[in-house]
Amino acid sequence: MRRLLFGGLALVLLLCGGAVALGTWLWGRAAVSTVGTVAFDQPLAIPPLAPSRVDGSGRRVFDLHARVGERDFGHGRTRTWGFSGDYLGPTLRASKGEQVTVNVHNGLDEATSVHWHGMHLPARMDGGPHQEVEPGTTWSPTWRIDQPAATLWYHPHPHGRTESHVYRGLAGLFLLDDPSAPVAALPNRYGVDDVPVIVQDKRFSRDGQFDGSHGVFGDIGVLGDTLLVNGSVGPYHQVTAERVRLRLLNASTARSYRFALSDERSFALVGTDGGLLPAPAEVRSVQLSPAERAEIVVTMRPGEHVTLRSVPPDLGEVGVARFAGGADSFDVLQLRAAGTLVASPPVPARLADVPRLDPAGAAQQRRFVLSGRRINGDRIDLDRVDAVVTKDTTEVWRVRNGHDTPHSFHVHDVQFQVLTVDGRRPPAYLSGWKDTIYLRPRTEFVIIARFADHADPGSPYMFHCHVLFHEDQGMMGQFVVVEPGQRPALTHRHR
Ligand code: C2O
Ligand code: CU
Ligand code: CU
Repeated sequence: MRRLLFGGLALVLLLCGGAVALGTWLWGRAAVSTVGTVAFDQPLAIPPLAPSRVDGSGRRVFDLHARVGERDFGHGRTRTWGFSGDYLGPTLRASKGEQVTVNVHNGLDEATSVHWHGMHLPARMDGGPHQEVEPGTTWSPTWRIDQPAATLWYHPHPHGRTESHVYRGLAGLFLLDDPSAPVAALPNRYGVDDVPVIVQDKRFSRDGQFDGSHGVFGDIGVLGDTLLVNGSVGPYHQVTAERVRLRLLNASTARSYRFALSDERSFALVGTDGGLLPAPAEVRSVQLSPAERAEIVVTMRPGEHVTLRSVPPDLGEVGVARFAGGADSFDVLQLRAAGTLVASPPVPARLADVPRLDPAGAAQQRRFVLSGRRINGDRIDLDRVDAVVTKDTTEVWRVRNGHDTPHSFHVHDVQFQVLTVDGRRPPAYLSGWKDTIYLRPRTEFVIIARFADHADPGSPYMFHCHVLFHEDQGMMGQFVVVEPGQRPALTHRHR
């Protein structure tokens, strides 16, 4: 009897010990830090500016070819997807007022799409799940650039498969300029002192391939342990001017970053998703959830090395933040200043006019609660219209994460303004034009947008969580913009 008792006790102890060991192992494994371990032994790749031509009717025409490729990221030959190259795509660049056409050729063996994230344009040109491009075919959307200078981007948006298409490498920048509102004092030599910084996290399998499997508590999708910056691993950038503008894009599928400099110096936040802020904000860190952008200006001293780092992001009251990347830190990019630096003008105190949208003039108020994988209790149905918006009106949307997992909110077609965060005025980084915001749990964001210019009762725009696994699982809705009195009638059906 005593032997039995003793044996039972030992077994219980063993099981408890096992559980604790497993728990400790999972807990330890759930935090990633590459701080101090990155070699910074290769120059930062700068995505090439996409060549373009102006056709007979004055349109600027670009070509993008989605195709498979291979790249050595230090794990042998990794199979990739890219636009007009092995990995990522070229930077498209156009000016306000220009008419552009992009010939999107799909050289993959499955359908994809290309969405112009942050762009104000007709719904049929938007590149969402209603505009999938079949293998071997070309889609040629065309529209007029009609919004402030900004750092936008493009990426696939096929129904239910966005996470894997972006993860394999399909993404690129779309920079907009506004010749009528030049801010000459900001660094503007592309790839020299105006530098794209596309940040993505990857995990590599034993055989050197991108591992797209979700983590132990894979609630938000892939969280990688290796960073790629413009496709480079452990890169440095040689700085030759006193000030350098970094155009930060979080092109990861799930991870949030909180960018800071290794010596904790402050820098100027000059722009967010939809363009320049009214005035620069002096900050020590800037947090970006997937798809968000920030333009920052860093002041350098001759000869110094300073590292752009990602410190643990503040995700708010998420269940176990650690399992959502909340304890992770990364060395991102080393900035190496030359022994003598070309003088740069100071960052101007006024950057852009950002006229405030007035909620008193709103034609409509709406409420959106994101919870589970649903918005207001529904998953996406491409044949259902969730909101009908009248063209040239302003709407106020109250948006809330009713859940304790990280979510975000992105709206197609418009750039919006954040009126309040839990009833309070938004912080500086939410004071300009935004198209994507991180939705802190149990926090209400009130946003306002004007749905101008383009009406089409047959084609919807999307709004969704930009954690791409959630988007793929249906955490998305669609709205149609119509002429006054018109009713939606979806014509452009998905496949
Ligand atoms: Cu960046 Cu609907 O997407
Ligand atoms: Cu978008
Ligand atoms: Cu989400």
